[in-house]
Amino acid sequence: MGAVVVVGTHWGDEAKGKLVDILCQEADAVIRYGGGPNAGHTVQFAGTQYKFHLIPSGVLTPGVISIMADGMVIDPWTLTEEINALVAKGIDVSGLRISQNAHVILPYHRDLDMHEETARGKAKIGTTGRGVGPCYADKASRVGIRMGDIINPARLRERLEQIIPLKNAILKHVFQADTYTVDGIIKQLSIVTETLAPYICDTQALAHDLMDAGSKILFEGAQATMLDLDGGTYPFVTSSHPISGGATIGTGIPPTAISQVLGVVKAYTTRVGSGTFPTELLDERGDRIRERGHEYGTTTGRPRRCGWLDAFALKHSVRVNGLTGIHIGHLDVLAGFDEVQICTGYTRGDAALNRFPSGDVQLLDGCEPVFETLPGWDEAGVENATSYDELPTNAKAYVARVQELAGVPARFVSVGPGREQTFQLPDSPSAADLFSI
Ligand code: GDP
Ligand code: IMO
Ligand code: MG
Repeated sequence: MGAVVVVGTHWGDEAKGKLVDILCQEADAVIRYGGGPNAGHTVQFAGTQYKFHLIPSGVLTPGVISIMADGMVIDPWTLTEEINALVAKGIDVSGLRISQNAHVILPYHRDLDMHEETARGKAKIGTTGRGVGPCYADKASRVGIRMGDIINPARLRERLEQIIPLKNAILKHVFQADTYTVDGIIKQLSIVTETLAPYICDTQALAHDLMDAGSKILFEGAQATMLDLDGGTYPFVTSSHPISGGATIGTGIPPTAISQVLGVVKAYTTRVGSGTFPTELLDERGDRIRERGHEYGTTTGRPRRCGWLDAFALKHSVRVNGLTGIHIGHLDVLAGFDEVQICTGYTRGDAALNRFPSGDVQLLDGCEPVFETLPGWDEAGVENATSYDELPTNAKAYVARVQELAGVPARFVSVGPGREQTFQLPDSPSAADLFSI
């Protein structure tokens, strides 16, 4: 039984949550392996919309174990709110498990995120302001607090007594900001510890038990390939490893356990925050995509930058993630254009690049996208479709071209946010079969 990873192919918000929700109908466990409350995953079914920042989207599927693994950074207050909101909606969260090794986002991480952004001035990253970067920085500097610490009062105090003076020195002397006390942080944590304690455990051991039992495991990627700390468009990236490799680092599950990696692609490309975006549309076409696609951030409400699909970046994503298939969504949003464009490559000066300049943001800055034009498709055609075959011919031609440029098969397409608006492609393995390939 092979594990399946779902990853975003570009700069996030590709609809990973929705695909995870669909695949979860066939899975035994879903694991989020990285990131924190910077993520916003939306799932819509039975007329209700659910927005997840920390909890895996799979929690909506009864009987599925939903693991928040080692690689995550967790804001315990946001998590408690998310649990309470789900319970209020009648969702059973008893399958939730939180890694004792996941790092805790504390109030000073959020403060530092904000102060560091302000200090960057024009060079700001446009972070989500959730304290994610400073928390990962503390993890790497080995001055982090882990979820296991918050249920061990003696250890929590001992760690905070070492760490708080360091943080206060920075807050006070670098940013002239308010400081924290150990007792104050412990008091704030005590408000949520009781709610979270039952879920905190050794999730590596749990994941290994699940593997031994032959369970069907799904990894829910957060953020996306171009935001990867190492391989993304640094420094305009997040601080974790959203790529498929992150699934093993963030969970303790070995790479050999993974058999399928599905890339979630939008029929166009979006980006939130700063950084070069070669296919960005700064005219009414970008506005049209934003309004039709409701392209406003789930986490921050910021308008997302919109542009034509960057298939050159997609090709790179296929390589670094080892994609075995893709989901192409939001075909309904592109409907109504007479013509649509796809970026097939970049030029710099007179020269064509032979590969995506990953990690070299200065090189990327000077690139011009090369576009190919395809005929558009009508709105009624996608709205009324109930299967892939019923899609307008031009929409299917678009899917075929994206597949060709990516070099991997499209497994699913979507024409709307609902579960029933996602169609499997003919000859593609079913969601259930994906776990046994
Ligand atoms: P994620 O972060 O990758 O999980 O994606 P988000 O949830 O942040 O953003 C995707 C948005 O698109 C959500 O509001 C979804 O409900 C919505 N969505 C998903 N698939 C489709 C689709 O095919 N068409 C349209 N119009 N919206 C979709
Ligand atoms: P999902 O999982 C889109 C972006 C931020 C910013 C950069 C760094 O919903 O796809 P951070 O707060 O992580 O330090 O911000 O990364 N970013 C996302 N953009 N979707 C996300 O998550 C993102 N998570 C982080 O906008 O540019
Ligand atoms: Mg999102």
